[in-house]
Amino acid sequence: IDIKTLRGATGGVTTIDPGYKNTGSCQSAITFLDGEEGILRYRGYAIEALAEKASFLEVAYLLIFGELPTQVQLDKFDKDIKAESHVDEDMKKILDGFPKSAHPMGVLSALTSALIAFNPSSVNVDSEEDMYRTIVKLLAKFPVLAAWAMRKKKSQPLDYGDNSLGYVENLHKMMFAKPNEEYKVDKAVIDALDKLLILHADHEQNCSTSTVRMVGSSHAGLFASISSGICALWGPLHGGANQAVIEMLESIKEDGGDTKKYMAKAKDKEDPFRLMGFGHRVYKNFDPRAKIIKVAADDVLNQLGIEDPVLDIAKGLEKEALEDSYFVDRKLYPNVDFYSGIIYRALDIPVEMFTVMFALGRLPGWIAQWKEMRENKEPIGRPRQVYTGENFREFKEVSKR
Ligand code: ACO
Repeated sequence: IDIKTLRGATGGVTTIDPGYKNTGSCQSAITFLDGEEGILRYRGYAIEALAEKASFLEVAYLLIFGELPTQVQLDKFDKDIKAESHVDEDMKKILDGFPKSAHPMGVLSALTSALIAFNPSSVNVDSEEDMYRTIVKLLAKFPVLAAWAMRKKKSQPLDYGDNSLGYVENLHKMMFAKPNEEYKVDKAVIDALDKLLILHADHEQNCSTSTVRMVGSSHAGLFASISSGICALWGPLHGGANQAVIEMLESIKEDGGDTKKYMAKAKDKEDPFRLMGFGHRVYKNFDPRAKIIKVAADDVLNQLGIEDPVLDIAKGLEKEALEDSYFVDRKLYPNVDFYSGIIYRALDIPVEMFTVMFALGRLPGWIAQWKEMRENKEPIGRPRQVYTGENFREFKEVSKR
């Protein structure tokens, strides 16, 4: 039944569903998610297989274009991205204008939006060729901006990267290379980063993706829509949870590691404290990404020879939650962000960059969803409301109020 017939048949009835808990906003062929069974698939491929066997760039191609690339397609994609990795020198003046205290998510969102001024043709996506060029430009320049945001925070000189490296390794170089020193990195670090980016690459109509589609539905350009998505991701109930988790684990450690005390706080309805990294709108079972990340966290710490007491605190909290009726009854399990911060920390990524890492991973998903929205010629997103204010009031001059 189409929407006009439905509205006609119901006398224009508006459904109200705060938080869109039961409302589908679109049809999508990108990501399948079964929250009851804990299943996640990109374009039909299981997240477990992709995380183990694919590279982030292959997954980006899969999400955006619908199929895993052949070697020839992958090489071309990689080459096209590298050809667009230059960011206009004047963009650095904008970066310089931020105070050092600026949160990297704010910097990333602003710089992504500023990219439009330097790439005005990016708003033309009517032909397949223009759409491809715009997508490739963003995939190329986004890691540069993310690395700039981190270097700004650390007051370090910028690094120009090295196009002979792979996408993820080059990102790592732009973030970590030291001036006048040969850049070297442990393979375990790049593998872990690749895996984390893949696990964050798409998650159907979450808050930031819905924002990207909603903003794009007014035919705002791709860069503007992604800039809005970054802001949506920033919040602690969404992508910002990865930063909030590590801060929570740290404060539990500082407070003597008494996990029971914090479990009690999380259950106390008078206390605003929530167990960050727990619970999910859709998963009412284990988040499959959390399972993979938990194993990866153990592996990375072992391979790099790091002992992090917050990993034990996290495992302790998880164990207690799985045995606690408050969490069991509400089907609250660890989500993707419960263990990701522990890996980021082991990779020397500053806490304020955690959500930026999420954004880097989510970029192909946002792009794929935006492209699908445009190609499906979706109408402008414009929900209705149920008005609860005053009916009609006579205006009174200020002297008579
Ligand atoms: N700690 C304690 N209690 C919780 C938690 C938590 N982390 N999450 C949910 N609950 C409780 C709620 O208090 C509520 O209890 P009630 O039924 O007694 O009122 C019940 O579980 C349902 O929670 P809602 O907030 O209604 O669930 P919703 O689907 O709206 O929210 C959300 C999901 C935002 C993820 C929530 O679980 C939360 O705040 N988690 C912590 C933040 C977090 O980890 N966010 C990352 C999500 S994943 C991502 O975006 C990448």
